[in-house]
Amino acid sequence: MAIAVYPGSFDPATYGHIDIIRRAGSLFDEIIVGVLNNSAKSPLFSVEERVNILKRVTEDVPNVKIQAFSGLAVNFARDCGAQVIVRGLRAVTDFEYELQMAQTNRVLAPDIDTMFLTTSLEYAYLSSTIVKEVNVFQGDISKFVPPFVAEALQEKYKQK
Ligand code: PNS
Repeated sequence: MAIAVYPGSFDPATYGHIDIIRRAGSLFDEIIVGVLNNSAKSPLFSVEERVNILKRVTEDVPNVKIQAFSGLAVNFARDCGAQVIVRGLRAVTDFEYELQMAQTNRVLAPDIDTMFLTTSLEYAYLSSTIVKEVNVFQGDISKFVPPFVAEALQEKYKQK
């Protein structure tokens, strides 16, 4: 069985992430999305909230699992029995960081490969950071995230 993990911060999940999850889901028997629980970063959404959002927005993808993880992505992949780490590549600006991560992971775990999926053109500009910024200024985020995520973001905005 071919299993892949897709690690990330997902703070919060955007249409770009969902597109990668769907496409990876059609390439592998199982795709396990790993939501990084990193106390060094201060995400807008808690890890539980990010996991719940992802579960909700991928309800119709039959072979996806959403899990929190901490520590190294390669250890998470091993724990899941995955041979592949999937990452999305939006633009050349992503490449340097992604290559460095993939190469580091390859040294740490030569048995695990990184596979890059190029983000669909319609989402190539999209990032969680940009979505949060537009939301802070009460811009329309409906083209960036599903309605459930937009509501969660607006709720956060009200709490601040
Ligand atoms: O969505 P992001 O923030 O670009 O995801 C980055 C992530 C979570 C994939 C990366 O930071 C990661 O794998 N962190 C876990 C720690 C790790 O394995 N570091 C070594 C690779 S450089």
